[in-house]
Amino acid sequence: MTTTTTTSNGPAPPTKPTKPIIDPASSRLFKPLQVGKMQLAHRIVFPPLTRNRNDEAHTPLPFMAKYYADRASTPGTLVISEATAVSHLEEGQDNTPGFVSERQAAAWKSIIDAVHAKESYYFQQIWGMGRASYPEFLAKKGFKYRSSSAIPMDDVEAIPQEMTEEEILEIIQSFVDTARRVIAAGGDGVEIHCAHGYLLDQFLSDAVNKRTDRWGGSTENRARLVLQVVKAVVDAVGADRVALRLSPYAAFQQAEKGDIHGQYLYIIEQLKATVPPLAYLSLVEATGDPGALIFGGKTVNQGKTLDFILEAWDNRSPVIVAGGYRPETAAWALEEHYKKWDVLVAFGRHFLANPDLVFRIRHGIELNRYNRATFYLAESEVGYNDYPFSEEYLAVHAEA
Ligand code: PHB
Repeated sequence: MTTTTTTSNGPAPPTKPTKPIIDPASSRLFKPLQVGKMQLAHRIVFPPLTRNRNDEAHTPLPFMAKYYADRASTPGTLVISEATAVSHLEEGQDNTPGFVSERQAAAWKSIIDAVHAKESYYFQQIWGMGRASYPEFLAKKGFKYRSSSAIPMDDVEAIPQEMTEEEILEIIQSFVDTARRVIAAGGDGVEIHCAHGYLLDQFLSDAVNKRTDRWGGSTENRARLVLQVVKAVVDAVGADRVALRLSPYAAFQQAEKGDIHGQYLYIIEQLKATVPPLAYLSLVEATGDPGALIFGGKTVNQGKTLDFILEAWDNRSPVIVAGGYRPETAAWALEEHYKKWDVLVAFGRHFLANPDLVFRIRHGIELNRYNRATFYLAESEVGYNDYPFSEEYLAVHAEA
């Protein structure tokens, strides 16, 4: 019997199978796929998850290597790190990581090595937090609280300062420098975070970005920063080591877009025109808004799909989709909804609760349940390294 650890079932999946249930074990989830330079053995991805297990200096604690390596335990798995700051100023919340100092780079290198020792692959998700930083936390460190515009977040009193041209150019360089550090530490690539109301998304969103210079005011201008970051990072480390994450529908942290189709189709068109194929594109489903999924809010946007982006991207490189998937709905998505395209599926909450998730899906083994209460338990191994492998996995992998 498989141990269950907690309490929550999570919300309904985004896409309910309308056809006979497809057995995940024999589905395209287990069809190998080349992604950038990586030969993935299957299409089950461990996605970026903020877990707050870094120390006060925003450096990974040593036990994080076990957590990442466990989730890499099926060879040929793509493991993506939690979002990681590109400069100390963007380390805007307690216990979130950076990849800036030598000490931070060395700590990440141990994690990268541990994933590679399992013959799996590793991308680092890199970001700025902008106005999603905690203002009082930045103030203590003497850092400025800033965003695309001086528009505060709901329920936060502090008003961010509009970033200057010089600060914008500096942040582009910080993405480049961080990408170089990741590759120097052995990482297979970087995923640029432009989603969920964090810094790059604060430029993309017309609800947040009220600028009147070349970084705001039109679809083209709002997309300028993310496109320049992608281009600069691609020039530095090569397109097959670069990925981009977008969340077109998310209202999390009030980064809505008035013209979702126009805004995202422009980005896709520009990526196709200006950079070679990226390693992958990572897209959050309409129902994958963290406001609903992580914090238990209402599931919104039922019925809206990512299809317009997949059509425009047209298999230029693989696409990872995320947002409330379960093994059966993921199998259905790959066999039916996304059958025209090279798609992979990310499982956040199920993967954090099941270090052997890939093995469990392959063998139809019941999943451990996740415990929402320990998702963000700072610096603790509780709810982190204590989710068990299945007995079946342990039996197969027992030392002789
Ligand atoms: C979070 O820390 O809550 C978080 C981080 C990155 C995301 C979404 C949510 O993309």
